[in-house]
Amino acid sequence: SGVERLGDMIAAASIIVPFTGAGISTECGIPDFRSPGGLWTRNRPIPFDEFVSSPEARDEAWRRRFAMEPTFAAAKPGRGHRALASLYRAGKIPAIVTQNIDNLHQVSGFSADHVVELHGNTTYARCIGCGQAYDLAWVRKRFDESGAPDCTACDEPVKTATISFGQAMPDEAMRRATELAQHCDLFLAIGSSLVVWPAAGFPMLAKNCGAKLVIINNEPTEQDEFADLVIRHDIGETLGPFVGN
Ligand code: OAD
Ligand code: ZN
Repeated sequence: SGVERLGDMIAAASIIVPFTGAGISTECGIPDFRSPGGLWTRNRPIPFDEFVSSPEARDEAWRRRFAMEPTFAAAKPGRGHRALASLYRAGKIPAIVTQNIDNLHQVSGFSADHVVELHGNTTYARCIGCGQAYDLAWVRKRFDESGAPDCTACDEPVKTATISFGQAMPDEAMRRATELAQHCDLFLAIGSSLVVWPAAGFPMLAKNCGAKLVIINNEPTEQDEFADLVIRHDIGETLGPFVGN
């Protein structure tokens, strides 16, 4: 079966790089983007230039974020996160590359230095001008008083520490993800539709650099034809057997 073959590939590999998308967190109650009921089926994304230029867009972005807060606050790592954390503790995974913004890989036991976040993190905020970090509680208080807040240091807008469409990718995360993809022997693409670039380029980069590529997703992806193994099945059920201690 797919899970047995995956087990053999994991046992044979010494450097495994997981690459995760929103599908690994759906069992934690966090909706993905493109499945039925996904975020982009309910809300149009707010592009970065609109956030920067429009106070109404900023208010809307923060209203949406606060509406999601109970969901993010209640979410705990799922079987997928826990299986990857077990392989990390076993020394098989040098670092994980993720498109997710929910912080659950860190909560599951990855050290923050070993989580390469391509699309940032929604559990805190940053000034888009000077980069100053802010707690969401601070943003919430200011928002309730007078709408989407600006930086106390430089007056530029404060935004969740995530990457929006049209916003520059984080250089350091891109550099580290490139290096990880180039130097692993097994690359696991888990729970991503693999349609958002440049993130979606990493599975092929790994494959072209000699890694075996496994895609675990309950729906077909555009890159299935390049994979050495496709497991079209639930992530929690697929990775559950790899949850160790
Ligand atoms: P998507 O919503 O595009 O894809 C998630 C995939 O996971 C879908 O193909 C689902 O079918 C699958 N899936 C969901 N739950 C699953 C489960 N329990 N078991 C197996 N498969 C499951 O999410 P991403 O590919 O992560 O970026 O989206 C990529 C980027 O698009 C996000 O990082 C975000 C978004 O716009 C930005 O906002 C910049
Ligand atoms: Zn600032």
